[in-house]
Amino acid sequence: MSGRGGGAAGSGKGGSRSGGGGGGGARSLGVRVHTARKRSHASTLWLNRQLNDPYVQAAKREGYRSRAAFKLIEIDQKHKLLKPGQKIVDLGAAPGGWSQIAAQRTGASEGKSDPVVAIDLLQMEPLPGVDFLVLDFLDDAAPAILKERLGGKADLVLSDMAANTVGHQRTDHLRIIAMVEAAAAFAAEVLAPGGAFLAKVFQGGTETELLAALKRDFSKVLHVKPPSSRKDSSELYVLATGFRGGEAAR
Ligand SMILES: C[S@@+](CC[C@H](N)C(=O)[O-])C[C@H]1O[C@@H](n2cnc3c(N)ncnc32)[C@H](O)[C@@H]1O
Repeated sequence: MSGRGGGAAGSGKGGSRSGGGGGGGARSLGVRVHTARKRSHASTLWLNRQLNDPYVQAAKREGYRSRAAFKLIEIDQKHKLLKPGQKIVDLGAAPGGWSQIAAQRTGASEGKSDPVVAIDLLQMEPLPGVDFLVLDFLDDAAPAILKERLGGKADLVLSDMAANTVGHQRTDHLRIIAMVEAAAAFAAEVLAPGGAFLAKVFQGGTETELLAALKRDFSKVLHVKPPSSRKDSSELYVLATGFRGGEAAR
């Protein structure tokens, strides 16, 4: 497994190529999708981007469930979050890229440590070392179910959850904030002292109130945007490390 930045481009597999010649190397051979009669312009653009995205190609090549796997690889490379033996919760795990990385790096995929506890609204194919459950994190029962699965404190809570958008800017913003706040509150309940929280937020970063709560609960809080997070996307992650230990520390 190799973490990589923008240099992930290799030999693409899907689609027809424009430009001739074989081999990989530094030369990027773009794939151009023509607009099919029944395909909308937006779908054509999306398909074009997928086929030419070096991270999509690298994820296929390296057997990762999603290009998102590289975001966690890159964040981990820089901030050294994942360690053997850790107990990890992965919220919004499907299709499973982050869970794969977490299970590999903790040793759970080889049965050397407790499984990663993962949930999503959507079903996900089983992964070695991952205890997966279809569950809506915003369901009132979710925290208790997760705690039972964990069977103790966690070292790291990951959330790559993205609330479904309805197209109304204010509503969407509030839904996104509510999601991150719920994940942060859960992290504060289950983390062991010294634990960490990594969650997707969007442009504008973390709301003042949540940021203040995180700064109270963790020794270090920062926003990170890994190279594999698309530059034209407002996606951003908040990373809080050095959990102070919950209520006792307040
Ligand atoms: C960007 S994807 C996660 C990708 C994943 N980290 C990976 O590496 O493959 C976001 C996921 O969050 C899930 N999600 C959104 N809202 C959720 C909720 N309330 N409860 C559980 N999962 C949720 C979505 O179903 C979606 O699969």
